[in-house]
Amino acid sequence: MRPWNEPFERFAVLFAEAQAAIPVDPNAMQLATVDEAGRPTVRTVLMKDFDTRGWVFYSNRLSRKGRDLEARPAAALNFYWPALGTQVRIEGEARPVADAESDAYFATRPRESQLGAWASLQSQPLDDRGTLEGRLAELERTYQGRPVPRPPHWGGWRLSPRYLEFWKAHPHRLHWREVYRKAGEGWTRSMLYP
Ligand SMILES: Cc1cc2nc3c(=O)[nH]c(=O)nc-3n(C[C@H](O)[C@H](O)[C@H](O)COP(=O)(O)O)c2cc1C
Repeated sequence: MRPWNEPFERFAVLFAEAQAAIPVDPNAMQLATVDEAGRPTVRTVLMKDFDTRGWVFYSNRLSRKGRDLEARPAAALNFYWPALGTQVRIEGEARPVADAESDAYFATRPRESQLGAWASLQSQPLDDRGTLEGRLAELERTYQGRPVPRPPHWGGWRLSPRYLEFWKAHPHRLHWREVYRKAGEGWTRSMLYP
C-alpha cells in the first residue's frame, strides 16, 4: 500500500516541471463528462487549484458540463504536456466546491471576466454575437462603480480521484504506465503494458 499522498505529490512535481517548460496554459486539462444516455463528451478547462482533496476548475453550473456533473458526478481529467512527454489521467467524482471558495476565486478574476460570467448563458444557442455584446453592455451599466458579485450559477468543482495514471514517453513506444488505485486510506500502485 502506498502513502495516501503519493500520487498527489507526484502530480505536483510534474506540474511544477510543466509550468517551467510550457509558456501557455500548462494548467489546461481535458474534462470528460457523460450525459443521461451514457454518451461521453470532453472539453478543455483550466485547473485553478490542486491539493490532496483533488483538482479544481470553474465554470457555469447550467452549462452542458454543469448539468452533466449535477446529475452524474463521475468525471475524468487528462493532462498532456508534450514538452515533458507526459500524460496524466485522473478519474473520480467532481463535486461543487463550497460557495466561499467559489466567491474567493471569483473575486480574483478580472472585472471583464466577472461580467462575462453573468453575460454568457454558457452552452445555450446564441442567435447573434451582438446579443452577447448587448448583454455585456447592459451588465456594465448595471454594475458601474460597484463590485461584480459571483453569479449563483457560476462556481467550482473539485474532482477527487480514485484512479490516476502517469504515462511517460519512452523510445520505441515502450512507454511507462503507472497506475494508482484508491484502496481505503491509501493507494495501490501497478503498471500497465504501454
Ligand atoms: C485553453 C482553454 C481553457 C478553457 N478553460 C475553461 C474553463 O476553465 N472553464 C470553462 O467553463 N470553460 C473553459 N474553456 C471553454 C470550454 O472548453 C468549453 O467550450 C465551455 O466550458 C463549454 O463547455 P460545455 O458546453 O461542454 O459545458 C476553455 C477552453 C480552452 C480552449
